[in-house]
Amino acid sequence: MPLLHRLAGALAGLSALAALSAPAQAQTYPARPITMIVPFAAGGPTDIVARIVADHMSKTLGQQIVIENVVGAGGTTGATRAMRAKPDGYTVIMGHMGTHAAAVALYPKLAYHPLNNFETVGLAAGTPVLIVAKKDFPAKDLKEFVAYVKANADKVNAAHAGVGSVSFTSCLLLNSVLGVKPTAIPFQGTGPALNALLGGQVDYMCDQIVNLVPQIKAGNIKAFGIGTPDRNPALPDVPTTKEAGLPEFEVSAWNAIFAPKGTPKEALDKLSDALSKALDDEGVRKRLADLGSDIPGPDRRGQAALNKLVESEIARWTPVIKASGITQ
Ligand code: MLT
Repeated sequence: MPLLHRLAGALAGLSALAALSAPAQAQTYPARPITMIVPFAAGGPTDIVARIVADHMSKTLGQQIVIENVVGAGGTTGATRAMRAKPDGYTVIMGHMGTHAAAVALYPKLAYHPLNNFETVGLAAGTPVLIVAKKDFPAKDLKEFVAYVKANADKVNAAHAGVGSVSFTSCLLLNSVLGVKPTAIPFQGTGPALNALLGGQVDYMCDQIVNLVPQIKAGNIKAFGIGTPDRNPALPDVPTTKEAGLPEFEVSAWNAIFAPKGTPKEALDKLSDALSKALDDEGVRKRLADLGSDIPGPDRRGQAALNKLVESEIARWTPVIKASGITQ
């Protein structure tokens, strides 16, 4: 066979081999299960949102997303663990307004910066914050709650999920508006904090709606106000803080997925796409909506939108925290 024909045959073989391996290469990620760190105890709002979206994302990605609860220091322990993980697409974190915004001002020596040390994947859920109290708290509405807390600041206590958590940060705002410094009772998450509230061991807390809807509906805890401009369809009888006479307390948190800096773009794009598909799934949307979540529309999804949100939230919470004088 003439040399030219042999060369053409070899080239054809090589390109066929390359074509075969290219799709395989493209399908390399994800080749094994992915770990999603939840930086708070199981059963709390971060854990709830994480499990709902991760369950559907696993189907799209064809690999299991395994939730790993890594608790401590208001979520910053888990966030630091995620930041230090191998940036290969197999470790992500469900962070939020506390770990990836407020923590920057709360911890001057924080081991990470939410954007410099992380890649953004996407916003998972907006989570309005409510002021809630134990069932027998001696107040029937927000006005009475405020009066009682102001008059008994040295006796009441407030639960939170650690310095850096949403519950800590939002009640920091509430307490500074009221001019009080109640005893703060830390927990590894607002899942366990809610159990203490249900048991009457703590008096009140500021928590994300996704953790509270069933207990408020059952009448097991009192909800005095929700920190959003409008009432929430999941809890139509709970007044906004503005209606109830405390407009200064307007707080909405959010949960979002991040990956360690340097995670390959192919992995980030696939994770971001899987998250968006989860947020378009009717079953996921119903579960999140029934728990009062604000499900981000397409314009608020994706890596760039989350970058902007984190920048604006750091800018929002830093002066509030500095004014409170509380840093670690
Ligand atoms: C918080 O920031 O308070 C956390 O969301 C609590 C939790 O998820 O357990």
